[in-house]
Amino acid sequence: MLGGADVRDLAGEFGTPVFVTDEEDIRGRAREYLEAFGQEGGVFYAAKAFCSRAVLRWVHSEGLGVDVCTGGELEVALTAGVDPAMVTLHGNNKLPSELRRAVAAGVGHVVVDSFEEIARLAFYATDAGTRVRVLVRVTTGVEAHTHEFMATAHDDQKFGFSLASGAADEAVRRVLAMPSLTFAGLHSHIGSQIFDTAGFEVAARRVIDLAARIHAEHGVFVEELDLGGGFGIAYTPDDDPPDVKSLTASLRSIVAFQASTAGLPMPRLTIEPGRAIVGPSTVTLYEVGTIKDVDGLRTYVSVDGGMSDNIRTALYDASYTCVLASRSSDAPPMLSRVVGRHCESGDIVVRDCYLPSDLAPGDLLAVAATGAYCRSMASNYNHLTRPGVVAVRDGVATEIVRRETLDDLLRLDVG
Ligand code: LLP
Repeated sequence: MLGGADVRDLAGEFGTPVFVTDEEDIRGRAREYLEAFGQEGGVFYAAKAFCSRAVLRWVHSEGLGVDVCTGGELEVALTAGVDPAMVTLHGNNKLPSELRRAVAAGVGHVVVDSFEEIARLAFYATDAGTRVRVLVRVTTGVEAHTHEFMATAHDDQKFGFSLASGAADEAVRRVLAMPSLTFAGLHSHIGSQIFDTAGFEVAARRVIDLAARIHAEHGVFVEELDLGGGFGIAYTPDDDPPDVKSLTASLRSIVAFQASTAGLPMPRLTIEPGRAIVGPSTVTLYEVGTIKDVDGLRTYVSVDGGMSDNIRTALYDASYTCVLASRSSDAPPMLSRVVGRHCESGDIVVRDCYLPSDLAPGDLLAVAATGAYCRSMASNYNHLTRPGVVAVRDGVATEIVRRETLDDLLRLDVG
């Protein structure tokens, strides 16, 4: 059962593979973050984790803003009815058309990421006869303890203005010099799937040092400090993420301490959790196709999806858990590897798990915690159609993202 719905009924009605999302779980986590953090701060859901109108409506109706990083995500947010004033636009290479759209829509914040962009944005704002609130994205040099591709604040990468080189100070100077831009504050995102606050502490100290320099040079206080996202979730029983209350309380006290040490007022703190809001809410249901016992090693269980609906195992060596979902079984466990149906041996969904040895074609498997960065990173590799997303609440199931059909794919093939 998921959100009060029987998985066999869901598979029968919507087909497999399918993402099944518990609406109440997402709403509950949104509320939890807001209650723990939001009184004087702000929580912005990072839509890149999973972007659909329904989910943006749910989190927005719970009081969250939305962080988008492309014109596509921005359009989903605007057409979902998210208040533009509660939208933050990110991106290291925002297109001119995206900047113009954001300015016209009146988004609450643009997080500037390059010198070119500061000039462009100022021009578009002037052209539109408006002022845009800007956060300057700072690269703090912090090495977050996570996969290299998910760490974003070390110096040798593409995001933000380096603190070490003085680029961040220069970016603030240029923003302050533009009459059509309002310098609202600083932004620092150190990475993703982070479990401890040590990295945030170092980042906060360095950002507050910058805030002190800004005050000394310009007489301007940093009103807002956005610490980004990155809060880790449990994918397997080995993962033990901190609870939201203590995590947010320690972020707040870290920044309060650094600010008071520097003789600055406490800035308004904001965060941008993505994975922590949607990750645990969802399971992927797959149907078992073939089962191959590779002598003495393990059993390869092939399912009807794979790296096109979950690239995280292949890309980050991510771990997942998997259970037989369509029936119970007392059969002894067998060491299994759940693989997809793509033409690659790296097409692995769950590297190691134990499944009952009477597993048979047609059984349904459920892979847990696939709400973040699975559907949003899905592809059509090998011309597989991307799965739909079905929301369940009080036993009622509703498709919120339609399953793709072969016709959808063929329609694009116009040669
Ligand atoms: N804010 C900014 C500026 C970000 O770049 C990100 C994530 C977030 C917030 C949200 O981070 P979260 O709370 O979800 O960790 N594809 C990878 C994760 C990439 C994260 C990119 N930026 C994965 O599958 O784990």
